[in-house]
Amino acid sequence: MTDKELARLEFAKNSLHDRPQDKIHESVTIEQSARIGKDGFGFARDVDGTLVKVNHAGNVVIEKNVEIRAFVTVDRAVNGNTIIGQGTKIDHHCHIAHNVKIGKWNTLANGTVIEGSCEVGDFNTFGANVVVQRKVKIGSNCKFGSGAVVTKDVPDNSIMVGNPARKLEKKNVIWPIVEPMTVTVTEPSLKEWVNRVNEDIEKPVTPEKLVEHWGKWTGQENQTHDDLAL
Ligand SMILES: CC(C)(COP(=O)(O)OP(=O)(O)OC[C@H]1O[C@@H](n2cnc3c(N)ncnc32)[C@H](O)[C@@H]1OP(=O)(O)O)[C@@H](O)C(=O)NCCC(=O)NCCS
Repeated sequence: MTDKELARLEFAKNSLHDRPQDKIHESVTIEQSARIGKDGFGFARDVDGTLVKVNHAGNVVIEKNVEIRAFVTVDRAVNGNTIIGQGTKIDHHCHIAHNVKIGKWNTLANGTVIEGSCEVGDFNTFGANVVVQRKVKIGSNCKFGSGAVVTKDVPDNSIMVGNPARKLEKKNVIWPIVEPMTVTVTEPSLKEWVNRVNEDIEKPVTPEKLVEHWGKWTGQENQTHDDLAL
C-alpha cells in the first residue's frame, strides 16, 4: 500500500464520511468527529410551503497542511467545489457551508460559521463564534473579534468587531497567544521557530510557562495568563 493510499484510509476512518470525489491532500489532519463532504443545508420552499431538498452535485477540496478539529462540518458544493486553502486551521465546532472558498493560512477559532458561497482571502484571523453571512467576500490579512457578525464585504487589512461588524480603527490590537500571526518572525524561519518553541516548552505546559514564553517571543513582558485570553 502506498503512503497516499494509507493516508486515504486514515481519512476514511477518521471522518466517517469518505467520498472519493472529494480531494483531500494527504497531509491534512481531520479529527474523528469532523464531517466532510455531506450535502449542504439547501431546501427550496414549494408553493404549498413544503420543503424540497436541493441536490448537491459538487465536492470538497482541502489543500495541504489544513487542520480540521473536532465537530467541524465542511459541506460539499451544489456545483463545483467547497475549498479550504493551504495551511488553514479550523477549530472545534466551526461550520463551512456549501460553495465557500477559503484561501491560505487562515485561522478560524471555535464556533465560527462561514455561510454559503462566501469567499475568504489569505492570512485572516477569525475569533470565536464569528458569523460571515452568505455570499460575503472577505479580503486578506483581516482580523475578526469574537462574536462579529459580518454582513458586508470586508477589504484587506481590516479589523472588524460587533454585530453588525464595524471596522475597529484601533492600532496595535493584541491577539491572544493562540494566534501566531501576531508574532512577526524574521529570524529564524517560522518553521524553525515553531520547532524551537515546541522543544522549549516543558510538558505539561503550565499557564506560567506560556506567559513566560509569550514575553520571550514578543517582547510583551508583564502579561498575566488572563491578558493572553486563553
Ligand atoms: C478584537 C480583539 C482582538 C480586540 O482586542 P483589544 O485590542 O484588546 O481591544 P479593546 O479591548 O481595547 O477594544 C477596543 C474597542 O473594541 C470593542 N471590542 C473589542 N472586541 C470586541 C468584540 N469582540 N466585539 C465587539 N466589540 C469589541 C471594545 O468594546 C472597545 O470599544 P470602545 O473603543 O468603544 O470602548 C478582541 O476583543 C477579540 O475579540 N479577540 C478575539 C479572541 C478570540 O476569539 N480568540 C480565540 C479564542 S479560542
